[in-house]
Amino acid sequence: MKELKIITPIISVAYDELSESDRKLVDAAREMTHNSYAPYSRFSVGAAILLDNDVIVTGSNQENVAYPSGICAERTAAFYAHANYPEARFRAIAIAARETSGEEIAEPISPCGACRQVLAEYEQLAGRDVKVILAGRDCIYIVPSVKSLMPLAFTDFN
Ligand code: THU
Repeated sequence: MKELKIITPIISVAYDELSESDRKLVDAAREMTHNSYAPYSRFSVGAAILLDNDVIVTGSNQENVAYPSGICAERTAAFYAHANYPEARFRAIAIAARETSGEEIAEPISPCGACRQVLAEYEQLAGRDVKVILAGRDCIYIVPSVKSLMPLAFTDFN
């Protein structure tokens, strides 16, 4: 018998400690929370993806009265990015959230399982780690890759 341990390395930083490029991505994600359509959950999420062509693609959560038809901010951004820049590869993603009526959430949120699955595939396509930046008001978490957020992910079997 052998025990395997999975470790997710997370660095917690203050906004000022981010690189200029990461700050820009966090700013874009925070800004995007204002474009969220979340009349049902009243929870607004913004995501910003940096591509290797230096374009930043943003997205917000978009809800629907038929609840499962809505989609998270991360997938809104990821699908837009690959639909419009199919040749470009993902480098990093920043995620921010706030109550629709209020200020940014104190602790960072982390992508749901479905978004992790989608991001894991774009990371695999990129052939290198995609940095995940989870922005809260009080601290910001930097996770080095999507796969470290989703260990043992189901990826393609070619
Ligand atoms: N949501 C996101 O957009 N991203 C996440 O990482 C977590 C949850 C959305 C889905 C739904 O519109 C609302 O936040 C409440 O769950």
